[in-house]
Amino acid sequence: MHEDIEKVLIDEAEIIRGIDRVAAEITQQFRGENFTVISILKGSCVFASDLIRRIPIPLELAFVSAASYREGTESGELDLNFFPTDHEIRGRRLLLVDDILDTGKTMSSLVAAFRERGASEVQSCVFLDKPSRRDVQYEPDFRCFEVENLFVVGYGLDYAGGYRNLPYVGALRPEIYEQEAAAAVESGEPPA
Ligand code: IMP
Ligand code: MG
Repeated sequence: MHEDIEKVLIDEAEIIRGIDRVAAEITQQFRGENFTVISILKGSCVFASDLIRRIPIPLELAFVSAASYREGTESGELDLNFFPTDHEIRGRRLLLVDDILDTGKTMSSLVAAFRERGASEVQSCVFLDKPSRRDVQYEPDFRCFEVENLFVVGYGLDYAGGYRNLPYVGALRPEIYEQEAAAAVESGEPPA
């Protein structure tokens, strides 16, 4: 797996420093009232589990999965699963946690969905932010690192389902994408 990585962009020590900084900001902001951290599956599970262990105040944990609908549906529309119950949302302060803020569609749709369901407050925290890729106007309340416009994997982030278990954030070697593109052409599928 490591041999598929061209370059390590954020190593383990740097990741921990970034999380410590953001955890301190969150602790200060949310002190005094119970709140719920909602980890957006699957990508944010690694980040969320490190993050919550550095927030030394009471909190609850919930999950939601958000996948883009396949072709033929309006872009930006999300297929939501494992949605928390109304009891977990209504009147509560929520902190939505994702691995990366890219176009911003996932996070902005989820923030709206949780507000609609009666949360008293919805804030967001992302491990990575790619501001140059934004399609919708949205800024996270907390973020650990900004990254350039490059496809990254590791620390929860995947390429075709793999690499989530890398302990650092890295850029994949271009051959990995090229192999995939070549295989798609051979099988007659349109390239992604
Ligand atoms: P958005 O709705 O475009 O902001 O999409 C965010 C989602 O796209 C993330 O939760 C990731 O699952 C995925 N994503 C965007 N950029 C990357 C990347 O560089 N590596 C891996 N996944 C990514
Ligand atoms: Mg994701």
